[in-house]
Amino acid sequence: MVVLGIETSCDETAMALIKDEEILAHRVSSQIDLHKIFGGVLPEASSRRHLEVLYTMYRDIVGETDGIKPDVVAITMSPGLQPALLMGASFGRALATALGVPAVGVDHVIAHGYVARLAYPELAFPYRALIVSGGHTVVVEYHDVDRVSLVADTRDDAMGEVLDKVGRVMGIDYPAGPHIDKMALEYQGQYPRFTIPRFKDKTYDFSFSGMKTAARLAYERDGVSPEAVARGLMEAAVKQIVVRLKDIENDRGYMPLVVGGGVAASKFLRKKLSEQFKDVYFVPREWCTDNGVMIAYTGMHLYEKGYTLSVDAEVDPVGVLWHE
Ligand code: KG4
Ligand code: ZN
Repeated sequence: MVVLGIETSCDETAMALIKDEEILAHRVSSQIDLHKIFGGVLPEASSRRHLEVLYTMYRDIVGETDGIKPDVVAITMSPGLQPALLMGASFGRALATALGVPAVGVDHVIAHGYVARLAYPELAFPYRALIVSGGHTVVVEYHDVDRVSLVADTRDDAMGEVLDKVGRVMGIDYPAGPHIDKMALEYQGQYPRFTIPRFKDKTYDFSFSGMKTAARLAYERDGVSPEAVARGLMEAAVKQIVVRLKDIENDRGYMPLVVGGGVAASKFLRKKLSEQFKDVYFVPREWCTDNGVMIAYTGMHLYEKGYTLSVDAEVDPVGVLWHE
């Protein structure tokens, strides 16, 4: 089956054409240059850039693949910035109609963890996934492509968001995550220890806003160097993740662990998790940040199960699993 995947949930316009497990062509156009000016993603600007890029990107893919027609168009419908999601959804729907093929809607956070199956064909259900990005820090369990349950969510900021915000305070360009990761890995000196939050109620949820404030104060008030702040922040954020994942494993039983989402590109995170858990499946780095391959692949399996996008389906900034 040939599937075109379209992803515009945030600041990457991405598209991929896949044929079963084979990637025929893929493109990612990052908007980092645009959002650097604002120090974060400006939704309306993001949306306009998606609109400018989508058609050219599609023509490129058609050119590279000699016009192989998709059997289905898979579109990110949730979660993300609404104006950004709308561009991909409108383009994808119009394209599917013009080609006379069905469309299928994909939740891109679920796709972040599902794409591990493309990289690791031996990975069987059920498995547990930690998905860490600029918008989410969640643990979900996959029993099938359409049977995914939420085990832990963040109560405030996502880990990537915290790295970007603390980085911004220290004068690092958006997105600061990769830079903080590098500093944390290389720095060998003393560093501040930030508290790992514990909730009174029985929950595996994450909280990163306390360490965000502590990191900011360490830099602004106490004059701690950016390198030491980066190391302290990464140590605390990753320790919280390890503690939660261990609690989940103890209570809910062992499952292989997948790690995906933009922050999963972090070498620091990868190193610590490989030391702590056996059978960790890290999503390959090029599929960690937002991409079209994960949308096409997840969409293909949803379509095979009979899902299609209904005419009245709307984009959903929150995402299916995260509505309480
Ligand atoms: O999944 P993604 O591309 O977009 C969202 O859906 O949010 O994730 C983007 C996030 C940003 O916060 C960025 O700083 C972070 O991923 N990131 C990293 C690394 N590469 C990207 N964080 C730490 N280390 C990295 N190497
Ligand atoms: Zn994402």
